[in-house]
Amino acid sequence: MTDELLLQVKGLRGGYGAETVLQGVDLNIAPGEIVAVIGRNGVGKSTLMRTLTGLLRPSAGTIQLAGRDVTAEPADRRARAGIGYIPQGRDVFPDLTVRENLLVGEMAGRGRVKPDYEQVYRFFPILKERARQRAGTLSGGQQQQLAIGRAMIGAPV
Ligand SMILES: Nc1ncnc2c1ncn2[C@@H]1O[C@H](COP(=O)(O)OP(=O)(O)OP(=O)(O)O)[C@@H](O)[C@H]1O
Ligand SMILES: [Mg+2]
Repeated sequence: MTDELLLQVKGLRGGYGAETVLQGVDLNIAPGEIVAVIGRNGVGKSTLMRTLTGLLRPSAGTIQLAGRDVTAEPADRRARAGIGYIPQGRDVFPDLTVRENLLVGEMAGRGRVKPDYEQVYRFFPILKERARQRAGTLSGGQQQQLAIGRAMIGAPV
C-alpha cells in the first residue's frame, strides 16, 4: 500500500545535463526500514541522493514522501518535510560556527519537532565544546560529525 511507505520512488531518471546517470530507479522504503544503496565508484549513489533531496532535478519519474508527491518541490521544502541529508564530502558551511551550522539544520525541523541539542551533543561532545569555532577550522572527522549532527537536529522522518 502506497500510504504505508515512507519513501516511494518510481522510474527516476536524472543526471547532469546530457549525461543521464539514473536510468529508472525504483525504491520502496517503509517507516523504520534501513536501506543501503551499494555500487562501484561513479555508478550514481550520490546522484541518487542529490536527486532525492532536491539538489538535482530529475528528468523523469516521481518521488513520494509519506504519500505526498515532492518531485517538483525544492530542496528546502523537502528538508522541512523530513528528508535529512549527510553529504559525502561533509559540506558544512565553513565560515559559520559549529552552532550556526546546527541552527541551519534546526530549521529543517522547525514547526514539526523540537530540536534536541542534548541528543546531538551526547553523540558528538566535541560539537558542544567547539560551538563557537568556525566549522572550516575543524578537523575532517569533526566536520563529518557536524554534518551528521546538522541532519540529526532537524529530526528527519
Ligand atoms: N557535478 C557533476 N557534473 C557532471 N557529472 C557528474 C557530477 N557529479 C558526478 N558526476 C558523474 O556522475 C556519475 C555518478 O557519480 P556519483 O557521484 O553519483 O557516483 P557515486 O556512486 O556516488 O560514486 P562514489 O562511490 O565514488 O561516491 C559519475 O560518472 C560522475 O563522474
Ligand atoms: Mg558518492
